[in-house]
Amino acid sequence: MSRLFAGLLLLVLAACGGAAPEGPKAPEGPAVGTAAGTSKAWKDLSLSERKSFMKTQVVPKMTATFQSFDQKDFADMSCVTCHGTGAKNGTFVMPNPELPHLTAADGFKKHREAKPEITKFMMEHVAPDMAGLLGIAPYDPKTQRGFGCHGCHIIEH
Ligand code: HEC
Ligand code: HEC
Repeated sequence: MSRLFAGLLLLVLAACGGAAPEGPKAPEGPAVGTAAGTSKAWKDLSLSERKSFMKTQVVPKMTATFQSFDQKDFADMSCVTCHGTGAKNGTFVMPNPELPHLTAADGFKKHREAKPEITKFMMEHVAPDMAGLLGIAPYDPKTQRGFGCHGCHIIEH
């Protein structure tokens, strides 16, 4: 091995810090962080703060998320995409009863079989990205707390 290459290898190893250290253990239940671009937890935002957070953070970032799945289907992403009529009558009620109702049994088996691609996308991107923006821990089936599919969809058991 050349001296240069060995040096580079050392640099790379140093940059990676070797084996990843164990991170601090997550506290019980959702970790409450601040909603993206604000200095408050989502639950502490006023209605007008919620609206401006949705407009400046959620719509642009979730538009990028949804368009990474399908640029054409989500070309006109807006408050209505998630809130439906609630965005028109000002209630913004969530979960939005107009979104497809979900059956949670066996890790959403029904949806994984019927619509594998969008179900995988919802699990791997939509739910975690939205949780991250809200500053709420992703849903944890063990504690049954956190932000998950039921943040947007009605779940039927
Ligand atoms: C990607 C999906 C998505 C989009 C797009 C979106 N929202 Fe939301 N919105 C949510 C979710 C999820 C919640 C509920 C968060 C929670 O409390 O769990 C919510 C909650 C709200 C609330 C709070 C309702 C309450 O009861 O306090 C308001 C107000 C709101 N949204 C307004 C808007 C506006 C205005 C827009 C467009 C500028 C918008 N939203 C776009 C997902 C979305
Ligand atoms: C931030 C809101 C939000 C969250 C969280 C969310 N979804 Fe969705 N989901 C949507 C929207 C909006 C659509 C409708 C897309 C469209 O208009 O085609 C959708 C569509 C779907 C569909 C397609 C249904 C159909 O018949 O076309 C499935 C399946 C689905 N979601 C499953 C899930 C699962 C499983 C989770 C949790 C891992 C989840 N979703 C979390 C907003 C959300």
